[in-house]
Amino acid sequence: TKKKVIFSGAQPTGVLTLGNYLGAIQNWKSFEDTYNCLYSIVDLHSLTVRNNPKEFKNACLSLLAQYLACGLNPDKNTIFFQSHVPQHSELAWILNCNTYMGELNRMTQFKDKSAQHKDNINAGLFTYPALQAADILLYQTNLVPVGQDQKQHLELARDIAIRFNNNYGETFTIPEIYTPKMGAKIMSLQQPEQKMSKSDENPNGTILILDEEKRLTKKMKKAVTDNEGVIRYRDEQPGVKNLITIYSKLTELSVEEIENKYDGKGYGHLKVDLAEIVTDTFRPIQEAYANYMDDLSYLEKIYTEGALKAQDLAEDTMKKVRKNIGL
Ligand code: ADP
Ligand code: NA
Repeated sequence: TKKKVIFSGAQPTGVLTLGNYLGAIQNWKSFEDTYNCLYSIVDLHSLTVRNNPKEFKNACLSLLAQYLACGLNPDKNTIFFQSHVPQHSELAWILNCNTYMGELNRMTQFKDKSAQHKDNINAGLFTYPALQAADILLYQTNLVPVGQDQKQHLELARDIAIRFNNNYGETFTIPEIYTPKMGAKIMSLQQPEQKMSKSDENPNGTILILDEEKRLTKKMKKAVTDNEGVIRYRDEQPGVKNLITIYSKLTELSVEEIENKYDGKGYGHLKVDLAEIVTDTFRPIQEAYANYMDDLSYLEKIYTEGALKAQDLAEDTMKKVRKNIGL
């Protein structure tokens, strides 16, 4: 039988965070044997913020090297730059014409981002979810592994697909969303009520997969906790809860095992151990990353092959779309 399709991506807006790693990339890898997986570097999405063109090109290559360093196998997955498959933009326009202003107006990410970037509230920022729907629907995707923050966009993608199929006949597979049970929303170490994000302005809130040991340990030690003085996994202690979540995801110890291990111990103890666990996880990734970044011709081979494979699949869907809407 034909393998089911997975699509997901991340924006080349900087180095991947521990949140991206636990909420998304780690799961992507777990699917590579059983699904037909497409993992994109969604460069077009990043044009919604102003980039320095030279740095941007490098950020795109860097993210590709980060994907590979995190263990995504290019022989098992299709890894490509979104902009190399022009069908993404073509379908995005068509979906824009089948998406209501009211739907886009309800998107909390648009509200958050336009509040953050008042000087650049562009149309792309507003229609971002239609491009994201195009990314997914273009490949007849069955499953989309993402963090919690993408749930609302994914529900909109489903609504758009269902409406399109009703209006123009069966065209798109309706995608399901996959979020991990734990780690779907890793919080900022400085503001545990806010998600950890690569675009966070407070660098101490975010652990990056390329942070060296000293820097990482410093950030971990500064992590905001509380005055309770007990290491418990509960909503009243969001900072501690977040640390336990990260700990559990990286060691596969259960929450209870961690609570027992640190019974009667202080936050400092937990933080130092956790810094070591995170460092050990990222060390091999950092070594692999350096090697990939030294081999630009290899990276070029990966993204060129990825684009060809993705274009083939995308064009199959676009033929159907164009025919069904009378183009
Ligand atoms: P960012 O907000 O860090 O720029 P992206 O928009 O590039 O991240 O998202 C890449 C993937 O990582 C998405 O699937 C997203 O849901 C996931 N993700 C982002 N931040 C977190 C987080 N703090 N915890 C868990 N998953 C996250
Ligand atoms: Na995001």
